[in-house]
Formats: sequence, structure tokens, C-alpha cells
Amino acid sequence: MRLVFLGPPGAGKGTQAARIASAFGVPAISTGDIFRANVKEGTSLGVEAKRYMDAGEYVPDTVTNAMVRDRIAQADAAAGFLLDGYPRTVDQVHELDGMLQADGTSLDKVVELTADHDEVVRRLLHRAEIEGRADDTAEVIKHRLEVYAAETEPLSRIYAERGLLVQVDGMGEVDDVTARLLEAIGDRAGAVG
Ligand code: AP5
Repeated sequence: MRLVFLGPPGAGKGTQAARIASAFGVPAISTGDIFRANVKEGTSLGVEAKRYMDAGEYVPDTVTNAMVRDRIAQADAAAGFLLDGYPRTVDQVHELDGMLQADGTSLDKVVELTADHDEVVRRLLHRAEIEGRADDTAEVIKHRLEVYAAETEPLSRIYAERGLLVQVDGMGEVDDVTARLLEAIGDRAGAVG
């Protein structure tokens, strides 16, 4: 199973990716988590990524693409993976296409997790109180949502035209969202395009 999760900041991608990847026995690969681990370790990648992340901007495609290429080439991703937060730009879509073609594989589904604007802001501000993530301030959240709308929302259409997109409602209890995702991924209920 090769899956991609799309969805705005706070939609619940990371929360659900861990559950769904575990259900399918594949690794959840979060570009945001990999960047944050590098920031924490103080690697050169982390130093470069932090500048963009703290401002709510996307890390440049060249950096991100190379990182994902390395990660999905690792042994645990040979039989499948769930990409959480990649691709996010049209260029990244094409890069991922090339990586998969080179391996003779393809995506099975692209899941877009949807949630109301006010709810995602509420969730992220709540997380800020608990975790203190540098990009969870009101100002940066606003910008992250703008960047998502400009750079990543167009990807839904691309994947819908390929017949790969399923949209799943990310509102409500975490367990209910997981159940909806399993149903949508399992039988393509809610398929778009
Ligand atoms: P990333 O870490 O991917 O951040 P994001 O996309 O903004 O997503 P979030 O982690 O904020 O939200 P989520 O949808 O994963 O929701 P979560 O489950 O965490 O990326 C961070 C940065 O890295 C980017 O801004 C960029 O700079 C860089 N980056 C990453 N990928 C990149 C790429 N491909 N290209 C370029 N740059 C890239 O949940 C959020 C909160 O809500 C949590 O507290 C959670 O507990 C809570 N929650 C979840 N579900 C529910 C629910 N159903 N009800 C109530 N609360 C819930």
C-alpha cells in the first residue's frame, strides 16, 4: 500500500497517519517530523529547514525531494509507505512520480483530510499551549494556511484527475475519523474524480 495524506495544518494528518500506517503495516513518513528531528539534532539540514518552518514557509523543493528520495529507498518502505505531508507542491508531485516510476511502483490512493478553518486553528493553538511548537502561533498558523491554499490545494485536482483522490471528513472524534479513513481507503468510498 502506497498512500499520500493531504490536508491543511491541523487537519489531523500526523495523528491519523500513525494509526492508518500501523493498520496497513507500512511506515508513516512525515516530512515535518523528519525536519523537526533534524532541527533537534542540529544537523545542517535542520538548520536550513528551521528558517522556513518557523516562518510557516515550505522548505525548498530541492531539499525536501532529496530527503524523501532517501527515506523511501530504505528497506522498511520497500513494501509500501504512507507519506504524510509530501508532496505539497506541483514540483514535488512530479518528483514523486519519477521516484515511483524508477522503482516500478505507483500510488494506490491519495487521501485528503478536510477540516473547518476555525477548528484547525483551535487545534493548533491548543497544541501550542501543550507542545510550544514554534510554528503554532496565531500569526504563523494564518500564514501556513495561506501557503497551503496557494501551493498544496491544487494537488487535489491533479490526483482527482488521476482517479486516486479520496476526501475524508477530519472533523469529530479521532476514533471516528480513523474509522472513516479505513473505510475510504479500503473500498474507495467517497472517491473523487
Ligand atoms: P508538518 O509537521 O507536516 O505540519 P502541518 O502540515 O502544518 O501539519 P500539522 O502537524 O500542524 O497538522 P496535522 O494535519 O499533521 O495534524 P496533527 O495530527 O498534528 O510540517 C511542518 C513544516 O515542515 C511545514 O510548515 C514546512 O515548513 C515543512 N514541511 C513539511 N513537509 C514539507 C514539504 N513536503 N515541502 C516543504 N516543506 C515541508 O494534529 C494537530 C493537533 O490537533 C494535535 O494537537 C492533535 O492532537 C490534534 N487533533 C488531531 N485530530 C484531532 C481531532 N479529531 N479532534 C481534536 N484534536 C485533534
